[in-house]
Amino acid sequence: MEEVLEKYNATKIEDVKVWFKAASVNDFPVDGGACVKYKDKQIAVFNFARIGKWYACQNVCPHKMEMVLSRGMIGDDKGVPKVACPLHKKTFSLENGENLNGDMDAIATYPVKIEEENVYIGFSD
Ligand code: FES
Repeated sequence: MEEVLEKYNATKIEDVKVWFKAASVNDFPVDGGACVKYKDKQIAVFNFARIGKWYACQNVCPHKMEMVLSRGMIGDDKGVPKVACPLHKKTFSLENGENLNGDMDAIATYPVKIEEENVYIGFSD
C-alpha cells in the first residue's frame, strides 16, 4: 500500500520542473473535480470556481487507498478549501493536503496554473 503513496510527493511551486498540460479549463466541471493521469500517477484536479481557484492533489485517498478523491465534494472548513472523500468523508485541505478531521498523513498537493484556457499541473519529476 505504501508503495502507491510513495509516488505522490507534495510539490511546491518553487520546486516545479515540469508544467504538465492537463486539459482545457472547459474539461473540468465547475465546482468539481476530474482525474488526470501524469506518468504513473493519478491526479485529482479541482475547478473551485466559487472562490476562483484551481487545486490539484493525489487522487488516492490514504484511508483505504481508493482512487476517488477527484469525485469528492469540495467545500470550506473554517476558511480552508477542502475536499471530502466520497467514500468515508475524510477531509483534506486543498492548500497543503492536511487531513482536517483526523490524524492521517497529509496528501500530496501540486501547483496549478491556467494559461490560455489550459490547465497545467506542476511536478518536480
Ligand atoms: S477511502 Fe477515503 S475516506 Fe475512506
